[in-house]
Amino acid sequence: MKTILKCLNLSKEYASDFFLVKKKKALDNISFEVSQGEVFGIVGPNGAGKSTTLKILLGFVLQCEGNATIHGISTRSSVSREHIGYLPENPTLYHNLSAKDHLKFSCKVMGIKKNESKRKIDSVLKSVNLFEVADTPLRQFSKGMMQRAGLAYALIRDPEILILDEPMSGLDPLGRQLVIDIIKEYHAKGTTILFCSHILTDVERVCDRIAIMDKGQILVTTTPEAVKAHFAGKTIEGGKTPLEAYFLEQLKGNNT
Ligand SMILES: Nc1ncnc2c1ncn2[C@@H]1O[C@H](COP(=O)(O)OP(=O)(O)OP(=O)(O)O)[C@@H](O)[C@H]1O
Ligand SMILES: [Mg+2]
Repeated sequence: MKTILKCLNLSKEYASDFFLVKKKKALDNISFEVSQGEVFGIVGPNGAGKSTTLKILLGFVLQCEGNATIHGISTRSSVSREHIGYLPENPTLYHNLSAKDHLKFSCKVMGIKKNESKRKIDSVLKSVNLFEVADTPLRQFSKGMMQRAGLAYALIRDPEILILDEPMSGLDPLGRQLVIDIIKEYHAKGTTILFCSHILTDVERVCDRIAIMDKGQILVTTTPEAVKAHFAGKTIEGGKTPLEAYFLEQLKGNNT
């Protein structure tokens, strides 16, 4: 399979004091690749470096060591971002505009004709379950509705690559299922998807491969099948799913 996203020996330090003297390692020499059409999930505790990794791939964080490429093009070049739909950790949209206004704007920027843009916008709004509130200003949206509006914004350009930073965050069970269905739908269409999440039950349901991160490092890259096989014939205590148990096992190993 063709490699679409590639991170090679990425390290990133942030200044951790006012005088910019003390440094804190956010990423410590991470490498991974995502192939065409793959759903790749990154999981890890708060501060593990998940969002930093995604931000480097999107070219938001430029000062770092190592290389990140999309289609072989360095993420330092804006050309690399041409085919990406991105949902940030906290989507910042215009509160006085509606979800439809945002999508219209996006279609205009992409040069999509009026008829085609109406069809696209209606279809995306239906898929994130915001069609009924398409004209409501976003200031009236709940957190979960805002999250779904952000997702609509990521989907509107029919991206070849989707990068989603905690797409299930703040969503009720129906909203979470909706995101899972969208990931599955785009996966079936051949979209390459990279996302991070804390909801491990969802991650093991949709990912082809999973990277477990802690303290800026990738501890292991695995698959849902391998994780299941790891516990074959064993009893998992506490009603945890295989990935939840494996995740805790890996973190414990890294912190003892
Ligand atoms: N702009 C910044 N300035 C300084 N430190 C930062 C900055 N952004 C992130 N960090 C630090 O880098 C580390 C990794 O942060 P990052 O946001 O990548 O973690 P994360 O895995 O996405 O966590 P979470 O699950 O809470 O979203 C953390 O220690 C964080 O404090
Ligand atoms: Mg994060």
